[in-house]
Amino acid sequence: MSSAPTPRAVTVRDIRDRKGKEPIVVVTAYDVLFGRLVDQAGVDIVLVGDSLGNVVAGFQSTLPVTLDNMIYHGAAVCRGVSRALVTVDMPFLTYQISTEKALANCGRVLAETGAQAVKIEGGSERIAETVSRLVEIGIPVMGHLGFTPQSVNAIGVRVQGREAEEAERLVQEAKRLDEAGAFAVVLELMPADVAARITASISAPTIGIGAGVSCDGQVLVLPDLLGLNEGFAPRFLKQYANLSETVRDAVRAYGDDVKQRRYPSADHSF
Ligand code: KIV
Repeated sequence: MSSAPTPRAVTVRDIRDRKGKEPIVVVTAYDVLFGRLVDQAGVDIVLVGDSLGNVVAGFQSTLPVTLDNMIYHGAAVCRGVSRALVTVDMPFLTYQISTEKALANCGRVLAETGAQAVKIEGGSERIAETVSRLVEIGIPVMGHLGFTPQSVNAIGVRVQGREAEEAERLVQEAKRLDEAGAFAVVLELMPADVAARITASISAPTIGIGAGVSCDGQVLVLPDLLGLNEGFAPRFLKQYANLSETVRDAVRAYGDDVKQRRYPSADHSF
């Protein structure tokens, strides 16, 4: 268990106040080193995403990720972040079974990681009711609509909201989460005009990923952004580095040095 929650500079209120003003920068992180680096780079929100199931553990989906996994990684990230708001994803089946279970599990996440907020997927009436109860007891909630990875078996990996009826449903779900008190809503994989409509319809800021230019902020999965997740190249992704190559080069150079007895040298010896 971590020590008392760290008071960080960015609050959920700051994030809400940014709507329509300055774009909100969100990135994922899963450990203390990258948590510290992205915080130093000045992001507004560090999301400990359950995408760690894919990019850290190598699963095909986020479904096998457990509450204990999220607490372990959430606490690690929190130990590295002193400024940004830290939000932890609630994994599959930790908030959908009943509102009571959601309150207990989300409470555990905040108490045991030191994060300031949680993220949950979906916009049904039942989820909105859960969001409302969480907010009422002081647990800030980020929503997540569009492609919701925990429902991959039901909806497939595809752009959501292309049909008028589906788009209208997404707008209604966003309004529901907004009324329930979500402090921000992630919009994943949807046509830009649908994301723009949602962004204009709700008071909470929208955070897009594959949702076009009109959202109030953007989120990317850190290994994708850094070019560490080779072979993953969806149209919406912009890679800002090629760290796979950097890592391979560095480890190759180390291996060569060891084999040639260039490392360690006398300088590295006691
Ligand atoms: O798990 C995650 O990283 C996410 C982002 C893609 C929004 O939910």
